[in-house]
Amino acid sequence: MVAKLKLWSAKLRALTILSRQQAPTSIADLSPKPHHIAVIMDGNGRWANSKGLTRVAGHKRGVDAVKNLIKNCIKNDIKVLSLFAFSSENWGRPESEVQALMELLTNALDTQTKKLDENGIQLRLLGDLSRFNKKIQELASKAQTATQDNQSLILNVAINYGGRWDILQATKAISAKVVSGEIAADQIDEAVFEQHLATADIPDPDLLIRTSGEYRVSNFLLWQTAYSEFYFSDVLWPDFDEQAFNQALLTYTNRDRRFGGAKDKPSAAKVQESDEQHSRQYAHDEFDEKHSSPDRIAESQTDSAPKEGVKHA
Ligand code: FPP
Repeated sequence: MVAKLKLWSAKLRALTILSRQQAPTSIADLSPKPHHIAVIMDGNGRWANSKGLTRVAGHKRGVDAVKNLIKNCIKNDIKVLSLFAFSSENWGRPESEVQALMELLTNALDTQTKKLDENGIQLRLLGDLSRFNKKIQELASKAQTATQDNQSLILNVAINYGGRWDILQATKAISAKVVSGEIAADQIDEAVFEQHLATADIPDPDLLIRTSGEYRVSNFLLWQTAYSEFYFSDVLWPDFDEQAFNQALLTYTNRDRRFGGAKDKPSAAKVQESDEQHSRQYAHDEFDEKHSSPDRIAESQTDSAPKEGVKHA
């Protein structure tokens, strides 16, 4: 009861702050919070055009917005952040823009890996990396190895990624195992399938954010977002700041997630939540347990501020 009252007073406080049009500096005490946030970062080009700048300048500012978001995720104890940085369809952009994005990616991997590591961030690259040049593939491999044991935040960066590609590559991998006799066809269930997706071992996104006023999923994490809450913001990606992020978090907190279950269940059924709901919550609990080191727990109880230097991550 006391916990419930505290929760509602925290929600009320945050709503009051928002209604006063002030930027909430921290909503760390709000609950429930998303464990995994996926973001379709859209609007770099329009942001640049509106300022008479090149699209590439927009992407560069987009990288700054990524750094801020990572900092804010750590501040709010978000466990997994998945960013759609380069889709399998983005190769169709003008050669000069693709080239500039490759340079940004190379530079980010080259200069930011150490900072990610210092801040306890584990980098995972999702997508078919074979299409990138050798230098990017080597930097990607080094960055993933260097940060693989970090637990404060898992940062998935999707490059040359498409949700349909992910489903197909998982299907091919499972088919090969069936052919070799490693698994039987009738053993394939959702859990087996998920283990072959690029996001294996990571709980599905709770919240999917898309910026710039577009209302599409654009082939991002198609399987994984089956039960995600969607939040669409009109803010263009380079302007997606702490206030915009906090608004997304607050909106999530006030959503009513039922995973296909019914809200007005008869009282006898109330005690027995749907299996689906149970197993998804269980996946989160299990993941939390694995990713909450004693240090991390102590830190989140005393101070939710990001570690020094994380702003450069
Ligand atoms: C969408 O804006 C953005 C992208 C296609 C790329 C997002 C990239 C970054 C944030 C930079 C980091 C990326 C890498 C690869 C390191 P848009 O160009 O589609 O914008 P528009 O819809 O306004 O034209």
